[in-house]
Amino acid sequence: MATLLITGAAGRIATALRPRLLDAGHDLVLLDERPPDPPVGDRERFVPGSVNDRAALETALPGVDTVVHLAGIPTEDTWDALIDANVTGTKNVLEAAAAAGVLRVVQASSIHAVGRVPEETDAPASVPGDRLPRPDSYYGVTKAAMELLGSLFADRYEMSVVSARIGAFGERPDSRRALLMWSSPDDLARLVSATVELTEPGHHVVWAVSRNSGAPADFTAGERIGFHPVDDASTVLDADERAALPPEDMAFLGGGMADMPLGHPRD
Ligand SMILES: NC(=O)c1ccc[n+]([C@@H]2O[C@H](COP(=O)([O-])OP(=O)(O)OC[C@H]3O[C@@H](n4cnc5c(N)ncnc54)[C@H](O)[C@@H]3O)[C@@H](O)[C@H]2O)c1
Repeated sequence: MATLLITGAAGRIATALRPRLLDAGHDLVLLDERPPDPPVGDRERFVPGSVNDRAALETALPGVDTVVHLAGIPTEDTWDALIDANVTGTKNVLEAAAAAGVLRVVQASSIHAVGRVPEETDAPASVPGDRLPRPDSYYGVTKAAMELLGSLFADRYEMSVVSARIGAFGERPDSRRALLMWSSPDDLARLVSATVELTEPGHHVVWAVSRNSGAPADFTAGERIGFHPVDDASTVLDADERAALPPEDMAFLGGGMADMPLGHPRD
């Protein structure tokens, strides 16, 4: 059992993780600029503030074993906004964690760090979790930069940092892309649990996607740190539900984002 600091705690992924991590026996410190919904309950503490506010991080970190860093802008936006939230924000989280002696971090990278890799659905399991970045957007560039920061802090401060290339998160797969690259809430909770168990310093870039049939994801890098996803999008939806999913651009791993104009906030 550990005490976890979740940044971006009011967001979609954090909201899904909270009950799962509490059930696993962890205590939670929740940091976000917005209040979490549902509000904090037993074994939770809320620290309002930004990851770019050093004082908020210093209030949140005492007693924490592992940071689950989810705060940031989760899609394409202006360059300046993305750099501020995703890159400077991550640098600040890692700096504050190192200063507080919190040496385990799992941070949300994204499939969009490798979103311009052509998708070869006839060659399943072809893309290693730690493949070199090939971003599809300014957003993807900031996720690749987060991975570099993870590498830097792991090396300089002997931290264990996991950069999790999350795919299409949701309670259920809701797109053609998600049939291949769904990240189920239970599997993301499994990745947090694997991170909590890490004892050796190092940086690990891993696929944080479920074991979806036909996924072009090679899970070897994650398995090295004890992450074994079990969910499969194809068993969650029946054939009719799968057929009803809207068509989608599948030329690149990043899907539609791979061809969107750079630097424009999405609706
Ligand atoms: N949802 C997905 O499918 C997906 C896929 C890949 C990666 N990710 C990554 O996972 C993370 C969480 O995604 P999400 O879908 O929950 O996004 P979200 O927008 O629902 O949640 C992000 C949270 O971060 C908070 N936040 C933003 N800037 C902040 C700051 N400076 N300080 C403190 N809090 C701040 C927001 O208030 C929000 O509550 C993001 O880093 C995103 O890039 C998400």
